[in-house]
Amino acid sequence: MSKRQTPAAPPCTLFLFGASGDLVKRLLMPALYNLSRDGLLDRNLRIVGVDHNEATGEQFAERLHAFMVGRDKGGEGAPNSLDPELWGRLAKRMDYQTGDFLDPATYQALAKRIDKTRHGNAIFYLATSPRFFPEVAQRLGEAGLLDESGGGFRRVVVEKPFGTDLASAEALNACLLKVMNEQQIYRIDHYLGKETVQNILVSRFSNGLFESFWNNHYIDHVQITAAETVGVETRGAFYDSTGALRDMVPNHLFQLLAMVAMEPPAAFGADAVRGEKAKVIGAIRPWNSKMALKNSVRGQYTAGKRLPGYRDEDNVDKDSHTETYVALKVMIDNWRWAGVPFYLRTGKRMSVRDTEIAICFKPAPYAQFRESALERPKPNYLKIQIQPNEGMWFDLQAKRPGPELVMENVELGFAYKDFFKMTPATGYETLIYDCLTGDQTLFQRADNIENGWRAVQPFLDAWAKGGEVHEYAAGEDGPTAADELLVRDKREWHRLQ
Ligand code: BG6
Repeated sequence: MSKRQTPAAPPCTLFLFGASGDLVKRLLMPALYNLSRDGLLDRNLRIVGVDHNEATGEQFAERLHAFMVGRDKGGEGAPNSLDPELWGRLAKRMDYQTGDFLDPATYQALAKRIDKTRHGNAIFYLATSPRFFPEVAQRLGEAGLLDESGGGFRRVVVEKPFGTDLASAEALNACLLKVMNEQQIYRIDHYLGKETVQNILVSRFSNGLFESFWNNHYIDHVQITAAETVGVETRGAFYDSTGALRDMVPNHLFQLLAMVAMEPPAAFGADAVRGEKAKVIGAIRPWNSKMALKNSVRGQYTAGKRLPGYRDEDNVDKDSHTETYVALKVMIDNWRWAGVPFYLRTGKRMSVRDTEIAICFKPAPYAQFRESALERPKPNYLKIQIQPNEGMWFDLQAKRPGPELVMENVELGFAYKDFFKMTPATGYETLIYDCLTGDQTLFQRADNIENGWRAVQPFLDAWAKGGEVHEYAAGEDGPTAADELLVRDKREWHRLQ
């Protein structure tokens, strides 16, 4: 979905709350740079950093520039080098507002900046610690900054994590909806900005062939994996109170599940797509306590491969029981998926980085080949790899050339890099552009978020009362107990690569 023919977004003042934080320098600014490179920003777009420390617009721009050209620029998709002219133009759009997020004077200052523009459009991007989300929203409302009656649009982008359980997510939604309407709220899940995630829908619904076997008659089970090699890095304190389940499952992994499992939307618009997603996540069976324990495995990494154990990471409790790995079995109670288990796993410090969906088809019904060397043909998989090697591959059985009847696994595949020129992108480009143009399709609606939490709440509740956190050595693919989750169903995890 190239943006090459795409028109520039409308003019706007983009306020980045939490301007001194990591997100702005690692992802948002590189994304804005990439959008500017592609000619997708209006000449009158202003980027205003908002934070408590003193700085001028020039200093703000200079600090971001130093980071983006430095060795530690991090952020996958960040441009490899900055074009000085392009950066110069971007820097001219930048400004800074010093202010306390809790002080009404900060908001009056923002109002003055908007009043000076002709368009009156404003986006308030909450890239702050989540404890400020309700506070900032309330003050934006009190200052009249969310009032669209003057003609300009007013939108609020809310970053992850959106709540820490069902009750807190509901409370946050209620708080936001007191001062703005749903059409003004852009809840971010950066997985939806990934081309390969968007491509799942396009592949499913624009190739007639898929629909014929996309159901419980032909699909045996589905595996969704987000394996990471990194540990908790500098985020020990956040992670230790969060854990792998909250950090990855109700948001990123459920987005992937929804893309694979949702019904075809009646249109490719925000309402239709988000409606179908809410339905399928809402159809995940709520396990009782006993079943939640039986259908989940938690793990925590110990030292291995010259890497420290989780409990030795900075800002992590020495006796922490927080999981850095989780594997779950969930069932979707609807017509299409009845009886098809969805196995989900995600973990830090695993052997490889691999985010993939493996769809396992039912075996061929009749074993004509029982006399051959390969007695039982292996099941066919369709692997959709989200990262790092983006593409789709079908596993097929083929006859190995020669006089003997020997079968071998071969792959039929499509790798993005073979067909498309991939320019570096953070995934935030599409999301920022869509917010500027008012397209909410790739953002989470309140019911999407709440249904996600509703589906993981039984695991959180069951773990609060008991269950074990298994160990795995850093560099391994999770605890052996996670293998058991599939072995008992006579299945096995798809090999990570
Ligand atoms: C974030 C999580 O939302 O997603 C991180 O907080 C995780 O812990 C990251 O590492 C994974 O994102 P990606 O794009 O690298 O798969």
